[in-house]
Amino acid sequence: MFYSAIRKVLFQFDPETIHEITIKGLKATGSSPLNLFYKKKLAQKPVNVMGIEFPNPVGLAAGLDKNGECINAFSAMGFGFVEVGTVTPRPQPGNDKPRIFRIVEKNAIINRMGFNNKGVDYLVDQVKKANFKGVLGINIGKNKDTPEENAKDDYIHCMRKVYDFASYITVNISSPNTPGLRSLQYGDALNELLSALKAEQKTLAQQYGKYIPVAVKIAPDLSKEEIDSIAQSLIDNEIDGVIATNTTLSREGVEGQQHGDEQGGLSGAPVTEKSTEVIKLLSSALGGKLPIIGVGGIMSAQDAKDKLAAGASVVQLYSGFIYGGPDLVADIVNAI
Ligand SMILES: Cc1cc2nc3c(=O)[nH]c(=O)nc-3n(C[C@H](O)[C@H](O)[C@H](O)COP(=O)(O)O)c2cc1C
Repeated sequence: MFYSAIRKVLFQFDPETIHEITIKGLKATGSSPLNLFYKKKLAQKPVNVMGIEFPNPVGLAAGLDKNGECINAFSAMGFGFVEVGTVTPRPQPGNDKPRIFRIVEKNAIINRMGFNNKGVDYLVDQVKKANFKGVLGINIGKNKDTPEENAKDDYIHCMRKVYDFASYITVNISSPNTPGLRSLQYGDALNELLSALKAEQKTLAQQYGKYIPVAVKIAPDLSKEEIDSIAQSLIDNEIDGVIATNTTLSREGVEGQQHGDEQGGLSGAPVTEKSTEVIKLLSSALGGKLPIIGVGGIMSAQDAKDKLAAGASVVQLYSGFIYGGPDLVADIVNAI
């Protein structure tokens, strides 16, 4: 009830303006007594995934806190883990505004942000300041102006910078808003990237005396053959987990809606079934060899249960959180 009243006001304004104001507010209050306005104590529902003990299986998906400025605030809301980023080696402005659109009638969002972020050094600084004791994922990507053939260098650069501060590291090769990024999901390009990252992970594990799992985040726009082939590469390269899925390029479910034909990735209710289907296929292709973090259109506790039933071990929210607020986190944690 409470969030739906706030949402009415928030949704009167441009999405990115509200996003920026909210991030500023959460950044300022996350570690202060003022967090009582959104702090929630949820039941412990611990689950061990990738060797990490998650206090509950509901996480914040990447993209909301791109610069790691509100980790304590999101944790206070009850999320069992927080994934920050996508972060790139150098700061970059992202695409021209407007670049995020709500399609309220369909509980959906289209975005073409383009990895706007303040760079990995800034993010690491924020993470250090947060002094967060919970489970933190750090999602890494490539700069827009890094040529595709050098993408690996950007991921390795970020991996080295964040290794000591992350509970797990997500390799994002599935944003539709960085030209060429999704081509890293296929064949030799994928194998070369993953084997380089695995080698680097081994070196860093030695250097820091701790093993930090690496997860790969994939798109929902994949055929069964492509999913099978990705699964094989993940297994072959001993990757620790897979996050399915990112936003979709499909416009099914939003045709004819205002903003329905904006360019970018579609998320929220229209992607629910599509990403659950990817999780099912992935789960059978992986045969339990690595865990799946399920994300995409979780708008209710039932949607989260469906993702878990499809083969996910934990779940993440983005659009559902925009539409349902912190209450959705509590609903899911209580229902599972
Ligand atoms: C505005 C916006 C920005 C996003 N930015 C990122 C990002 O930087 N990195 C990433 O891996 N995913 C990003 N995502 C994708 C989400 O993490 C999630 O995978 C996707 O939206 C599907 O989940 P949902 O339906 O719960 O939103 C973004 C999504 C939205 C709506």
